[in-house]
Amino acid sequence: MFTYGGRLCFHGDEVLTLETLNRALLLENVHPDATTRLTKAGYQVRAMPRALGEDELIAELAGISLLGIRSQTHITERVLAAAPDLLAIGAFCIGTNQVDLGAAARRGVAVFNAPFSNTRSVVELAIAEIISMARRLPEKNAKMHAGVWDKSARGAHEVRGRKLGIVGYGNIGTQLSVIAESLGMTVYFYDIADKLAIGNARRCSTLDELLESVETVTLHVDGRAGNRGFFGDAEFARMRPRSLFLNLSRGFVVDHAALRRHIESGHIAGAAIDVFPSEPKGNNEEFVSELRGLSNVILTPHIGGSTEEAQQDIGDYVSGKLVDFAEGGATSMSVNMPNVALPVVPGTHRLVHVHKNVPGVLAAINRVLAEHGVNVEGQLLHTRDEFGFVVTDIVPAYSDEVLDELRAMDVTIRLRTIEAD
Ligand SMILES: NC(=O)c1ccc[n+]([C@@H]2O[C@H](COP(=O)([O-])OP(=O)(O)OC[C@H]3O[C@@H](n4cnc5c(N)ncnc54)[C@H](O)[C@@H]3O)[C@@H](O)[C@H]2O)c1
Repeated sequence: MFTYGGRLCFHGDEVLTLETLNRALLLENVHPDATTRLTKAGYQVRAMPRALGEDELIAELAGISLLGIRSQTHITERVLAAAPDLLAIGAFCIGTNQVDLGAAARRGVAVFNAPFSNTRSVVELAIAEIISMARRLPEKNAKMHAGVWDKSARGAHEVRGRKLGIVGYGNIGTQLSVIAESLGMTVYFYDIADKLAIGNARRCSTLDELLESVETVTLHVDGRAGNRGFFGDAEFARMRPRSLFLNLSRGFVVDHAALRRHIESGHIAGAAIDVFPSEPKGNNEEFVSELRGLSNVILTPHIGGSTEEAQQDIGDYVSGKLVDFAEGGATSMSVNMPNVALPVVPGTHRLVHVHKNVPGVLAAINRVLAEHGVNVEGQLLHTRDEFGFVVTDIVPAYSDEVLDELRAMDVTIRLRTIEAD
């Protein structure tokens, strides 16, 4: 007997074919390179253009071992409980808030994302929008389309020498900082974590200090729960009169009703918003927002990271992580599993054991192996929060009891074996 893809299989007449087991489902228009990569690795791939709701998703997940999603498909505890075949989830985007990461880890389901693939794309859009708003391009463009020739320099500015405030100095914030400085902007930043100032950027010790110092504020904070409603009436009021505002981070971070009031009052001179508290599930659904119909406001449909370059890189990167996990139990860069990567040794069987992180698990595993005379060729353990992940390479000669005993351990969350060719 052996296991593959987390399911029991039997040698002889009852062998389940790999076609039955290696099935992947890719939702939300994941880049075709992901399909190519998974197909090459022996997966039967079904790609769908849209997000699925909970019930639909549960029905589609039967027999699926690898799932690819973007930001609109929510992986809840209920979905995970109903998907025993699922091995790993690839979030083909940056954020993973749409996945219940703890519930996935409790079932030994590894989650991967692409934290860096679209950083540059977001930065380039932010720069384009800062310049567009400073030159009042949204208004000029709308007037031209309405047949109005409004040639005037009034209210149009260069960005050179102007002060940009970056809130959230992570991957995107720091790269934006570099490019904004190269355009001659003076960069201020505020982050709740200690961050190295890049170039000549100036660190602000409070958000208020930043808001009072700059003429353009751009948000690049992450999607942690505490950031819900982070930027509202009080923060807009703190901004300097006639400032510009951008949010390309998360929709729920900003109070849009407050933003509308501050734009209508003229306190905020322009805004560029790419993310919304509630976004349409697909291109056929109407976009509803308090921010529609305002001049000098650029609204984009969550496309900050959506360039062909970024999508291709994400497709390739995340599908590679899924394949590495399925074929070798590698969890490097997983967002919910201890990170472990051990080179695959041909001719061995690999035991991938996910367990509760309590003392003595490694010793208990090795006791079972020793009692059955199983020779260990290589082993690596890592723990993270309440979970432990141990990869053990053994010679293929072992009895069914070894797997039965390891699986029966109180601490075992999931056991999988992989045969290295
Ligand atoms: N619009 C898009 O299409 C698009 C594409 C990619 C990423 N994003 C979003 O952009 C955001 C930034 O991405 P990233 O890769 O730079 O993330 P990151 O994790 O590298 O950086 C986020 C930074 O924000 C800081 N932070 C968190 N909460 C804060 C707060 N309340 N005040 C100040 N700083 C705070 C963190 O300490 C961190 O340094 C994320 O929310 C991501 O989901 C959007």
